[in-house]
Amino acid sequence: MTPSFPNTRMRRNRTDAWTRRLVAETSLTTGDLIWPVFVMEGRDTVTPVAAMPGVVRVTLDRLAAHVEPAAALGIPAIALFPATPRELKDAEGTEATNPDNLMCRAARLLKRAFPDLGLVGDVALDPYTDHGHDGVIRDDYVANDESVAILVRQALNQARAGIDVIAPSDMMDGRVGAIRAALDAEGLIHTRIMSYAAKYASAFYGPFRDAIGSQAALRGDKKTYQMDPANSDEALREVAMDLAEGADMVMVKPGMPYLDIVRRVHDRFGVPTFVYQVSGEYAMIAGAAERGWIDRDRALMESLIAFKRAGAAGVLTYFAPEAARLLRG
Ligand code: PBG
Repeated sequence: MTPSFPNTRMRRNRTDAWTRRLVAETSLTTGDLIWPVFVMEGRDTVTPVAAMPGVVRVTLDRLAAHVEPAAALGIPAIALFPATPRELKDAEGTEATNPDNLMCRAARLLKRAFPDLGLVGDVALDPYTDHGHDGVIRDDYVANDESVAILVRQALNQARAGIDVIAPSDMMDGRVGAIRAALDAEGLIHTRIMSYAAKYASAFYGPFRDAIGSQAALRGDKKTYQMDPANSDEALREVAMDLAEGADMVMVKPGMPYLDIVRRVHDRFGVPTFVYQVSGEYAMIAGAAERGWIDRDRALMESLIAFKRAGAAGVLTYFAPEAARLLRG
């Protein structure tokens, strides 16, 4: 049906704030937000992340105070990311499976302090390898099956420490199924898996790699395992495989340049589809706002509702506490 002027005036429903609220097709709530948090070794320190104005790394003695406002605002979950000291990194990412690594200590501490806050654990070796790749290297190639074997141990290590949602971001083939089987074999049947199913080899991860200190280390690029930005059908195959292997939720990453992928994945599979508004996207909004070029509050809220409109169940965003505050009014 084609609306015809003048009996149809599209602007009528835009006349007042209350009408606009009534006809809104999608909404953003605090329940849609996951907040990525960076932790580091040391004492009593909060350091800013270059290229992410407003984002910090915190030592564990400051972690509860850092997270408390987000928990109080009702943010359902946070995602933990460790900045591993250089001396603990090696070619095999050994520190990833240490039960007392930064991530596990952070998880135990947060579970005690905030039992109702969900904890998402990123599974990939890049915070722990001296070459900055997400897996181990054999013959100049990030070896799939050997990497998966280590990622399984990393996932178990995190789940035992209290991580509720294992989020493999490594893009190795078969890792979701291997992790699911290992979790179940240990009776960890409630540990969820949110797979970074469609994760692209993106320039927008730059500030994040700086935040966890993997950028300087990274040799080459991640194009032999992360997806080509030119592809969309391939994302559906990735999602189908991860679901078949037991993923409970899937993720598309980055966010704003990939809204078409969010829409296709959600429409095709009808599963909880998350999207990661990554560090470079945060940097673009925060950086432009800092220069007075755009309105920070309005731009961040617009970016978040766009994810919901595209079909996302929720968003991993560095803006989470800020958005929750704005939603509270
Ligand atoms: C680790 C990982 C990355 C991000 C999340 N998990 C970086 C990468 O794959 O190089 C990026 C997040 C962001 O940019 O905010 N594999």
